Amino acid sequence: MINTRFCSLLEIRHPIALGGMGGGATGAPLVAAVSNSGGLGILGTSGMDRAKLKSEVEAIRRATDKPFGINHLLFEVDEERFSVTLETKPAVASFAWARAEQDLRGYFDRAHQAGCKVMYMGGEVPETVRAAEAGADIIVAQGTEAGGHVVWMASMPLIPMVVDAVAPLPVLAAGGFADGRGLAAALALGADGILVGTRLLATHESPLHSNFKQAIVRSDGHDTVLTEIPDLASGRVWPGAMSRALRNDFIERWAGREWAVRRDQRAIAQAVAEARKRGDADNAPLFIGQDAGLIDAIKPAAEIVESMVSEAEQIIAEKLTKLVHRR
Ligand SMILES: Cc1cc2nc3c(=O)[nH]c(=O)nc-3n(C[C@H](O)[C@H](O)[C@H](O)COP(=O)(O)O)c2cc1C
Repeated sequence: MINTRFCSLLEIRHPIALGGMGGGATGAPLVAAVSNSGGLGILGTSGMDRAKLKSEVEAIRRATDKPFGINHLLFEVDEERFSVTLETKPAVASFAWARAEQDLRGYFDRAHQAGCKVMYMGGEVPETVRAAEAGADIIVAQGTEAGGHVVWMASMPLIPMVVDAVAPLPVLAAGGFADGRGLAAALALGADGILVGTRLLATHESPLHSNFKQAIVRSDGHDTVLTEIPDLASGRVWPGAMSRALRNDFIERWAGREWAVRRDQRAIAQAVAEARKRGDADNAPLFIGQDAGLIDAIKPAAEIVESMVSEAEQIIAEKLTKLVHRR
């Protein structure tokens, strides 16, 4: 077992969290599978209405009695949806992507009053310090390798910078972590665990269409791109972010013609929704991280969590200790 401050704070077995991925990328079966395996499942809420979120939380509670989290994107936080989190009191209220003028403390205080621990994800040191000063209990440092919305700093320098800047708060490393080698590296950089997105999308319990899961398996990790095209197509203004997506036909079609995406936004959004529905992984954005190159099979989520931990244990306890020769 690898026990970190993150595990102790939440009374869970493994220092691994599922990223609270929105837009239908997480659902009760995946969240519950990660929590049941001893990690922390987190439900993404973007795109859900109040009724859908309530029913997902009920389904999680039917499937597990272990701690789990609910994620909100702060720049588009919706009181109807946020009130479900406050009423249902998950172990963790997780947040990301606040606008510069938003009052983090107000949201964090309300989550604390509901009995939740507060997690905040940022991709730059000042953003994580802002969350620490507003009362967050856990900080996630997300490097640009990650799937979905990201900024510019890579995990390798960002994680130790954030660990130092928000000390003594526990930090999870996110962006590029897909196996036990990544977990061991994150711990060596001073993190208390990892938050995982892409690897857990290619699981049996993931709600993605199987064609999208297969596209993750096929990706060699060199074929992702930082782009604004998915946001232009959805009409959302994401504060200060690009998104990392597979460079598929959809991205190729519009790259360099972003002006045309703005012009034809409604029609493109409609075509994307239809492509998603029919599982057409070439004609809809697929948000994946560079770590897709480490993923070669669709597996049960619990198997992934367990193998990450046992591989990291083996690296730390056997491989690395043998390298140290004290005189
Ligand atoms: C499809 C997708 C949707 C995401 N949606 C959210 C979200 O709604 N809220 C959030 O905090 N992070 C979101 N993320 C980011 C993840 O929580 C996590 O930081 C990231 O996936 C970690 O990098 P990895 O994909 O290399 O594991 C999303 C990521 C992906 C791939």
